[in-house]
Amino acid sequence: MSKVSVIGAGNVGATVAKRLLEKDLADVVLLDIVEGMPQGKALDMAHSANVLGFNTRITGTNDYLDTAGSDVVIITSGAARKPGMTRDQLTGINADIVSEVVSNVAERSPDAIILMVTNPVDAMTYLALKKSQFEHRRVIGLSGVLDSARMAYLISKELKVPVTDVTAYALGEHGQGMVILPRFTTVRGVPLTKMLPDSVISNIVERTIGSGAEVVSLVKSSSAFYAPSAAVFKMAEAIITNSQQVLPCAVYLDGEYGLRDVVLGVPVKLGSGGVESIIQLELSPGEKKQMAASARSVKKTIKNAGIS
Ligand code: LAC
Repeated sequence: MSKVSVIGAGNVGATVAKRLLEKDLADVVLLDIVEGMPQGKALDMAHSANVLGFNTRITGTNDYLDTAGSDVVIITSGAARKPGMTRDQLTGINADIVSEVVSNVAERSPDAIILMVTNPVDAMTYLALKKSQFEHRRVIGLSGVLDSARMAYLISKELKVPVTDVTAYALGEHGQGMVILPRFTTVRGVPLTKMLPDSVISNIVERTIGSGAEVVSLVKSSSAFYAPSAAVFKMAEAIITNSQQVLPCAVYLDGEYGLRDVVLGVPVKLGSGGVESIIQLELSPGEKKQMAASARSVKKTIKNAGIS
């Protein structure tokens, strides 16, 4: 059985732990600095196993020793957005937390694949790469799976088609600089651009970019976690099962898409080695410009955080 450690037992962390257990995908170690809390949540989840019929095990802990030898480590630690905040406003506080978490994780699980969830996720993934010194392929951020899923939801509502028939494409920064590609977005193979007028597509694009903020502004006390935990679950699943599935993820670019020394959302093939390959789409000049602007925005956040 694979071992997945989830660092941070808040809403995203606890929910992804639950998804992994319930799908019988991995034994899970749930770690948080708050004493008793991860142990309590783990015990509660373990109590559900007989009812739901799963045999995977969960351990709640405050001790990184329990994470040793993990195959995958999902990092969710840090502050989440409050209503009206941008993801970038979390940089200072979360950079310190992520640095410490990554040092602890890398020491005990030197062969793990790190999945970063903490925001601003592109810069935090870059920071995790630097701190862990892992190969580029083993440090991956959550972005496009979530953003594409949100777009797919909006398209299914607009066209009144099953959401599972939609393949949406959201790349670039997980933030205002998100690069949504309607040309590559399809409903059972039919491009979105053939199904909806530009004005409607523009509204869908805008609403997709603001979806995370929309959830925070409604819930107020918490940022989104059902869809983010589902998205990172999907990434962990592709790695654990070595599925080679193509998913949009935030990864280190070294010349791909004409961009260098930055982490940005692009389609990648995921397998047991992490990023098995980066898929290069043929972008139009306008789309390339958007990707370059997105990269500049992430680089600025990296620089402001003093990461290099
Ligand atoms: C969101 C957080 C995960 O988009 O950034 O809801």
